[in-house]
Amino acid sequence: MRLKGKTAIITGATSGMGKAMAERFSMEGASLVLSGRSQERGLELERNLNKAGGKVVFVAGDVGKLEVNEILVKTAIEHFGKLDTVVTNAGKLGLGSITEISLNEWQETINTNLNSVFYLSRLAIPEMLKNGGGCILANSSIAAFKSFPNHAAYCASKAALVALVKEMAVDYGPKIRVNTICPGPVDTPLIWDSAQAFENPETIVQQTANNTLMKRLGKPEDIASLALFLVSEEASWITGAAYTIDGGILVK
Ligand SMILES: NC(=O)c1ccc[n+]([C@@H]2O[C@H](COP(=O)([O-])OP(=O)(O)OC[C@H]3O[C@@H](n4cnc5c(N)ncnc54)[C@H](O)[C@@H]3O)[C@@H](O)[C@H]2O)c1
Repeated sequence: MRLKGKTAIITGATSGMGKAMAERFSMEGASLVLSGRSQERGLELERNLNKAGGKVVFVAGDVGKLEVNEILVKTAIEHFGKLDTVVTNAGKLGLGSITEISLNEWQETINTNLNSVFYLSRLAIPEMLKNGGGCILANSSIAAFKSFPNHAAYCASKAALVALVKEMAVDYGPKIRVNTICPGPVDTPLIWDSAQAFENPETIVQQTANNTLMKRLGKPEDIASLALFLVSEEASWITGAAYTIDGGILVK
């Protein structure tokens, strides 16, 4: 019960890594406000976690919009009386080079991957401070450090996220810890969408798995383990850090 008594918001919780984090955090005793776009998947997750003894509320909506983030923070306070932890995990690929991507797709990708973190952190920090402090964990990507073809908006937004997190750690320490995780290839629907930017998606995913030192794709649970550690008291001296978790693909 490493998160007993803590209230956390997790965005992008209806699938992949966010869902694995929701399941893990709930098992560890956290009260959760979960966000995602699919009402159906979100309510199913809410039902399953509550059936297993969790304290979970799902809120559907696009976190690229300020008002959805306002609802998330309000829900945490109304249901659980306080807010300790925010995990900004929702992400969008927005495929295309800068001459191909539509203006709308570029804007939506920046809104989802970067502006949402600004909105939610800005709203959450005053609530955390009322309670003595808290922590924020953002899900970036190895795309912050390595370029992938036709991922212009994705690479730019994920790199900006790493810089934003470090800057926030400076502004809000020691009361609030702010960190980011930078996953490599993880087996979620998003990696298969990402592979569409290449000629042969099946082959590229297989090659990518083989290119890791661990010879496999990451599992959402691998990422949930790191996220759990970073938001727990065990990580109380960790802030302003960007953790790659990538099976060793970046060091090759
Ligand atoms: N899968 C990978 O290989 C990989 C690698 C590095 C980083 N990431 C990052 O990890 C995070 C989680 O991705 P995943 O791989 O689990 O993908 P996924 O597609 O399984 O899940 C993405 C989640 O984000 C939600 N989401 C997307 N846009 C949203 C929006 N505007 N508002 C609210 N929710 C929204 C979706 O509903 C879903 O719950 C993302 O930020 C992604 O960029 C993924």
